[in-house]
Amino acid sequence: MTGGGNARNGRRREILKELGLTPLWHVRPARPASMPQPPELSQERQAAPLPPPPPAASAMKAESGEQVCSDSSVGAVSALEDRRSKILQMGWEELETSVAGCIACRLCHSRTRTVFGVGDQNADWLYIGEGPGAQEDATGEPFVGQAGKLLDNMLTAIDLKRGRNVFITNIVKCRPPGNREPRPDEAQCCEPYLARQIELIRPKLIIALGKTAVQNLLHTDASLGSLRGRLHRHSGIPVIVTYHPAYLLRTLPAKAKAWEDLCFARSTMEALRTSG
Ligand code: URA
Repeated sequence: MTGGGNARNGRRREILKELGLTPLWHVRPARPASMPQPPELSQERQAAPLPPPPPAASAMKAESGEQVCSDSSVGAVSALEDRRSKILQMGWEELETSVAGCIACRLCHSRTRTVFGVGDQNADWLYIGEGPGAQEDATGEPFVGQAGKLLDNMLTAIDLKRGRNVFITNIVKCRPPGNREPRPDEAQCCEPYLARQIELIRPKLIIALGKTAVQNLLHTDASLGSLRGRLHRHSGIPVIVTYHPAYLLRTLPAKAKAWEDLCFARSTMEALRTSG
């Protein structure tokens, strides 16, 4: 082993210790039978998808400052479709500007800053969380609080780093007040932004962090536990689900499962790379 390898392993051990995860989070050379196996890419089991929710939209009066996602009249639905197709044609800069000025739902009233996402625009890995919290709202960067620190450590544990072949974003780009879950209409208003980010990045693998990300991406209300350990798809892109770092901070036993998910993600990426 090289000196660099030793240093890296030492650093990883320190991180895992700090997280209270040793000895559980050692990378094991052989995978026990209970661990998720690397995927047979041609034989994925998919979560039974529910149809996407119908648009709950309102008249497109964004320019005048009115909310656009709160009524479902026929005109409003077609205005929403218009908005979506405009967003789906945007390049990065225009998309970022559009998010920064978005007033499509009620969350615009309470946010300090929008949180577009951060990282490598050509990343193989796309991590998707729920929505900004207080610190993200203040700084404009996703996952900078305690949960973010854990996410960074989880990335390090599988040799990844924020910004290097990794992009991180959320289902909603504005902080829900009091850190409540985003409501379905809020997630729906933000969906075209995420859809365009996914199209522009074209990641090899999406990691959905927590229930809100999982349910919105996979259009399912199945429990997160029942969706772990297998590959799903969103817009044709493989998706792996795991626990939200904030949940892991509160629920120590779930950390071992999250580590299994990370190992599964890493072996899936290897399989995706070798399969072209
Ligand atoms: N939780 C999230 O889901 N996203 C963030 O950006 C921060 C905390």
